[in-house]
Amino acid sequence: MYILGINAYHADASACIYHNDQLIAAAEEERFRRIKHWAGFPTIAIEFCLKEAGISISDVDYIGISRDPKANLGKKVFTALKNRLSLSNMLNRAKNLKKAASIEEEILNHFKINKSDLKAQIINVEHHRSHLASAFFASDFEEAAILSIDGFGDYSSTMIATGKVNKITVLDTVSYPHSAGVFYTTFTQYLGFPHYGDEYKIMGLAPYGEAKYVEQLRDVLIFKDNGLFELNLDYFNHPKKGVQMVWEGGVPNMDSLYTQHLVDKFGPLRDKDEPLSQYHKDLAASVQRITEELIFHILNHLQKKTGLKNICIAGGVAQNSVANGKILANTTFEKLYIPPAGHDAGTCLGAALWIYNQVLDKPRLPITNHGYLGSQFSNEEIIEVLEKQNIEYKKLEGEALFNHVSDCLINSGVVGWFQGRAEFGPRALGHRSIIADPRRIDAKEILNAKIKRRESFRPFAPSILKEYVSEYFEMVDDVPFMEKVFPIKKEKHAAIPAVTHADGTGRLQTVDKAVEPKYYGLIEAFRQKTGVPILLNTSFNENEPIVNTPEEALACYLRTKMDMLVMGDIVVSRV
Ligand SMILES: [Fe+2]
Repeated sequence: MYILGINAYHADASACIYHNDQLIAAAEEERFRRIKHWAGFPTIAIEFCLKEAGISISDVDYIGISRDPKANLGKKVFTALKNRLSLSNMLNRAKNLKKAASIEEEILNHFKINKSDLKAQIINVEHHRSHLASAFFASDFEEAAILSIDGFGDYSSTMIATGKVNKITVLDTVSYPHSAGVFYTTFTQYLGFPHYGDEYKIMGLAPYGEAKYVEQLRDVLIFKDNGLFELNLDYFNHPKKGVQMVWEGGVPNMDSLYTQHLVDKFGPLRDKDEPLSQYHKDLAASVQRITEELIFHILNHLQKKTGLKNICIAGGVAQNSVANGKILANTTFEKLYIPPAGHDAGTCLGAALWIYNQVLDKPRLPITNHGYLGSQFSNEEIIEVLEKQNIEYKKLEGEALFNHVSDCLINSGVVGWFQGRAEFGPRALGHRSIIADPRRIDAKEILNAKIKRRESFRPFAPSILKEYVSEYFEMVDDVPFMEKVFPIKKEKHAAIPAVTHADGTGRLQTVDKAVEPKYYGLIEAFRQKTGVPILLNTSFNENEPIVNTPEEALACYLRTKMDMLVMGDIVVSRV
């Protein structure tokens, strides 16, 4: 039995495929199309999944779409009438709904087949139910409370639920126009970061400020006694204008969400090229703080309500790794699972898992403990790419490779590390990574000068051998997907300055030898020479989606000042 999961007409369009109880492949469309957060119908990702499974679309038994146009239809019409939404806005929405409803047509047209050739049953799984399923059904919890929290999907922004064995029961939702994601995005825009997905910049900026404006923000984001929340709509224009998400051409783009009232209360907007003042930093810190408080507020109520000790989280707001790192210390939950793709791309997995568990009533699958589900290339394929461009290379394997690369890193080299299957999810986890020596005080400057050219306030992340977490961090937990930020022990700040953020924290990836032996081997070689079991790890890209193919990795290497490129066992170097 084959289940194809799809996230379409939503940011981070993606596809995955299951064969019986095996997850064969998963990929985001942006990696193929080379447009960040690409948001149309993910035909290339679907074709990739089918190819990995060795089947055609006609062999698929179920297609799960993480979107249900019929969900909350009554509420949608009611709100549109209540708020006298403009005709163009309503037409826009109707067009989106129609697109989502015509998935079958889209598939028949793309694959040029007749309806009789498509045996798959198409099942719409509501957006937040897909998020919930992507977290709980991928965890190893027999029973857990579940939270999905984001901007909007199928008219909801937040959903709380419980999961027991292979069933999820929804307890409550927060519906349009109230949304914690919209709250965060509004202030992201207000602080001069207008692009879709810029929220993580506010999270990176927050440690440079003091959370002085939390009380003022309590008038904007209102915590309710039932453990949920609402927005003070005076500050937001989406209830009147609707959330204008444009995806034509594939790039999601969002209209400004703040009102004049917000500007009156919080001062003039920051222009994107304006220097960041202390006020901007303090406001970023305050937005981050109240968001953390909101998450704890929701979770503590949810824990009390359910009596459960395990919690699974997904959705855009659950990508807030700083908040995630504080959950166990600030709530009564004891164990936390966040999937490798907790954001919208992960809903393709959720839709497939919903069908597998909830609809077909199959026994639970093993935990998803890695996100290496994308494209892969052999040494031969890599060599072919290099030879076509007359690039010199050498082949090194095992310890010889680890020694060579770790020497380069120790000599302040920046290395492109391209290995095995591409990661599914927003983080590079040692398969499409750029790596550097975390001990260098100037590593951030070197990386920004040589490759990244990104805002200087944004931190770089540490990949650490699993066994050494307690030596370097205040907290010990598995963090395989860089989904949590933990405080770094004070006495270690000076040892790893390149991955210690302004507030003494690090967004770590714990590297497990059993899951990722090659990356583990490299870090171990570095540890043997330096005593430090950590590498600086940032995504392999330069203002573009993470590289997917050897051609893209080579192009990135050639147009930047990266010192070495390692693809599989093939080494290209400038010296
Ligand atoms: Fe979402």
